[in-house]
Amino acid sequence: MKAGLEDVIAGESGICYIDGEKGILAYRGYNIHELAPNSTFEETSYLLWFGRLPNANELKDVSDKMSASRALPPQVIALLKAVPRDAVPMAVLRTATSACAMYDSEAEDMSPEANLRKAIRLNAQCATIVAAFHNIRDGKEPIAPRADLSHAGNFYYMLTGNDPSSTSIRALDVALILHADHELNASTFAGRVTAATLSDIYSAVTSAIGALKGPLHGGANEAVMKMLLEIGDISKVDAYVHNLFAQKKKIPGFGHRVYRTEDPRATHLRRMSKEACERAGQSKWFEMSARIEEIVKTEKKINANVDFYSASTYYVSGMPIDLFTPFFAVSRMSGWTAHILEQYANNRLIRPRAEYAGPAPDLKWVPLSQR
Ligand code: COA
Repeated sequence: MKAGLEDVIAGESGICYIDGEKGILAYRGYNIHELAPNSTFEETSYLLWFGRLPNANELKDVSDKMSASRALPPQVIALLKAVPRDAVPMAVLRTATSACAMYDSEAEDMSPEANLRKAIRLNAQCATIVAAFHNIRDGKEPIAPRADLSHAGNFYYMLTGNDPSSTSIRALDVALILHADHELNASTFAGRVTAATLSDIYSAVTSAIGALKGPLHGGANEAVMKMLLEIGDISKVDAYVHNLFAQKKKIPGFGHRVYRTEDPRATHLRRMSKEACERAGQSKWFEMSARIEEIVKTEKKINANVDFYSASTYYVSGMPIDLFTPFFAVSRMSGWTAHILEQYANNRLIRPRAEYAGPAPDLKWVPLSQR
C-alpha cells in the first residue's frame, strides 16, 4: 500500500504527460514550453478535448461556441445573489456549477456529442460564475459577458468592467494555458472517479472543484499571497521562513508529489511575476518571493510549484486573493472535462481496495444496557 497513492498508476490517459524527474509537462504531446508562448486558452482547450491542434476553422468554431455559451441561466444568477456575500468563492463556484445542471436540458444526456457540448459550456460558464459572484458580493450587478473578447479578455472584462489591455489578456491567457491540465492530480482524479460511475459531467466537475479547493491543491496560491502579505517586507523574509522551518510547517507554494526538479510551469510564472510586479511598480512581491525560493531551495532542497509565483502575478494584476483558486478552476475546467470525456469513452468503474487496519471482524454486538 502506498500512502496517498504515491506513484501508483491508477489509469491510462492520452491527455497529459509528466516526467517528474526531468521536469517535463506536455498536453497531448505538446510541451508546455511550446504552448505557453504560442497558444491561446481556446486552442489549448481544443487540444485537450480533441487530441490535436485545431485548424483555423475548427478554432473559430470552438471559440464561437465558447463565447456563445458564456451567459448563465437567470436562476443561477439569482442563486449567486441569494448566497451570503462573504461566502468562500470556491464554495460558491462548486454550488453554482452544480446548479447549472438543473437548467441544462442536456444534463442527463450521456451521448458523446452532448457531453462535448456540455464540456464547452462548462468551460465558458465557469469564468462567468466566478466574475458574476465577485460583482454581486461587491453590491453590483454582474457584468454581462462580451462575445467579441477572448476567454481571458472576457474574464478580465467581466471581473473589472474595464477593457483589457493586450498585456493583461496575454498574461491571463498564459496562466490559463499553464494551469489547464496536470494528469491525475487530486481534482482530476476526483472528477474521473465520479465520471466512472457514469454519473453526469456536472457531478464529475463538481467533485473536482471540491478537491481543488483544498490548501494542499489549488488553495495553495491563496495561502502564498497571504504569507507574502503577512511577511510584508523583504527584510523580514529570512526570519519568517526560518520560523516556519523551526515549527516544521510547510511553506505554501513549495513541494510537489510528482516533480523532483523545477515544476516547468513555475519557470514561466517566475518570469511573469517579475514582469507583472515591475509593470505594476510593486517589485517587492517578486523580490520577496525570489528570496523565499532561494532559502527553501538551498536549505530544504524543495522547489517552487505552480502556485508560488502565480500568487504575486495575480495579486499585482488586481485580482482579489480569494479568486486565485477559482481562477485556477476556470483554467482546469478544460482539463477536467477532457479527462471526463476520456473516462466516458473507455469506462470502467474506479473502485480500489483499502488495506484493512480495524479490529478483527468477529466482534459480538453488545446490548445498549451493557455498554
Ligand atoms: N514546505 C516545507 N517542507 C515541505 C513542503 C513545503 N511546502 N512540501 C513538502 N515538504 C517536505 C515535507 O515536510 C516532507 O518532509 P519529511 O520527509 O522530512 O517529513 C517531505 O517534504 C515530503 O512531503 P510530503 O508532504 O510527504 O509530500 P506529498 O507528496 O505528500 O505532498 C504537497 C505534496 C504538494 C501536498 C506538499 O509538498 C505540500 O503540502 N506543499 C505545500 C502546499 C502546496 O503548495 N500545494 C500545491 C501543490 S501544486
